[in-house]
Amino acid sequence: WDVTNTDFYRPSYHHTPSYGWMNDPNGMFYKDGVYHLCYQYNPYGSKWGNMHWGHAISRDLIHWKEVEPTIARDPMGHIFSGSAVIDKEGTAKYGKDAIVALYTSASDKNGQIQCMAYSTDGGYTFHKYPGNPVLTPFDGLKDFRDPKVFWYAPLKKWYMIVSADKEMRFYSSPNLRDWTYISAFGQGYGAQPNQFECPDFFQLPVDGNPNKKKWVMIVNINPGCLFGGSATEYFIGDFDGKNFVCDSKPSVAKFLDYGKDHYATVTFSGVQDRVLGIAWMSNWQYANVTPIRQYRGANTLPREFKLFTGKDGQIYMSSNVVPEVAGLRKTFKRLPDLVIAQGKDSKNLSSSKENAFEMEMDVAPGDAAKTGFILYNEKGEKVNIYFDMKAGRLVMDRTESGRTKFGEKAEAHKIEKEFDLHEHREIKEPFRKLNSVNYKNDFALGTWAPLSLCDSKTYHLDVFVDKCSIEIFVNGGRIAMTNLVFPTQPYTSVKFYSDGNKAAYRNIKVSELRL
Ligand code: FRU
Repeated sequence: WDVTNTDFYRPSYHHTPSYGWMNDPNGMFYKDGVYHLCYQYNPYGSKWGNMHWGHAISRDLIHWKEVEPTIARDPMGHIFSGSAVIDKEGTAKYGKDAIVALYTSASDKNGQIQCMAYSTDGGYTFHKYPGNPVLTPFDGLKDFRDPKVFWYAPLKKWYMIVSADKEMRFYSSPNLRDWTYISAFGQGYGAQPNQFECPDFFQLPVDGNPNKKKWVMIVNINPGCLFGGSATEYFIGDFDGKNFVCDSKPSVAKFLDYGKDHYATVTFSGVQDRVLGIAWMSNWQYANVTPIRQYRGANTLPREFKLFTGKDGQIYMSSNVVPEVAGLRKTFKRLPDLVIAQGKDSKNLSSSKENAFEMEMDVAPGDAAKTGFILYNEKGEKVNIYFDMKAGRLVMDRTESGRTKFGEKAEAHKIEKEFDLHEHREIKEPFRKLNSVNYKNDFALGTWAPLSLCDSKTYHLDVFVDKCSIEIFVNGGRIAMTNLVFPTQPYTSVKFYSDGNKAAYRNIKVSELRL
């Protein structure tokens, strides 16, 4: 079919499918210099349904080439989220270096069951294991999905972490096929109310010290986002092959991204020297009705995760855009340094009018109570990004960012009849009833992040705008904030302001970005 872009809002440098609906990243792995990114995919339309694993490949995490979907829906059910590993020793008996994928098969008839597929051509063609499923819930649980598999070296075994409603369950296996239940974690932990989805589990050094490592459990929750709907949360702790013991109290919720459009984060397997993740840039509250037609759903820029000790002594995870994005910079403009006490200072931002740029700067709010900058267009549509020093927050306000009202009542949740997963979930959300979804309130709002995560007086901001998304990284990803915006014209200007004492903006750089 003809896949020439017809969408005004299609990102210029973020990964999107050329046609059809996309949600979660799935089965990501790196082998022989190639990053493989699969994703929840509907090849037949741009709303959720008919789930397959779509597939794209890249050598630099930025330029993606779409290839044939790897795992297609079958009579057992939808192909839901999951992961892929490189079976170096051939434990699954498909030969050394086979790629083995574990995914959830979902249908009304069979429920949510874990299945396996393997590839002997480096991950391009997958064969489903004829003995599927390889794992069913021991208690008949309805929500049991999104297996993430990893090699646990101390016991020389495969482990699977799988979301089971309000907890994560661990299983182990010698061959990726026979799974034994180990333990569970999560009941009552983190933001409430919630439902756990799309787990990940890996080890990272703390503050770069290779002798001090901690385990990180990523839990994507829906609902549970601070601002409503979907978000990525994480827990830090220790793991002995049996139990995960979390460092913090159950009531502590740590978020990987403080925007409203960052969900289903998972990491690549097979990358040796860093932990790299990608998230889906949307929120189940309105994912099905965003003003897009040909395709729907984009991924975040790839990010690297690191652990750092916060000023409260707790360990947090930073999420910073990968350095490979520097290759996207096509122009470079330096704006003069500014010290402002009152009022505003406006600058022309971009001459290309493509709405695809990066803006970097060092901000010293000084004694200002509120200071920030506004990205705006000729129609007065604007995004306000500011430091609320009284509240100790970085805020991004999209209430007047462009189109903020779309879709009719509850249209977001009119998805494939046969398996209304997300409709089912929305009913369970106590504070938001089905058929009364108010897109104005769900979409148009400000999101904020605690500045205490940064522990500094000057903040380095790296902001990526791409047609309909804004990603903000502060101090190397100690704060990450991802939000969709739908301006009817590109943001071409920026206005800096401070409403009190002097604030300084230095090293302001603007680059147009293109593939
Ligand atoms: C998360 C999710 C997963 C599920 C998939 C279905 O966004 O609900 O739990 O596997 O989407 O598309």
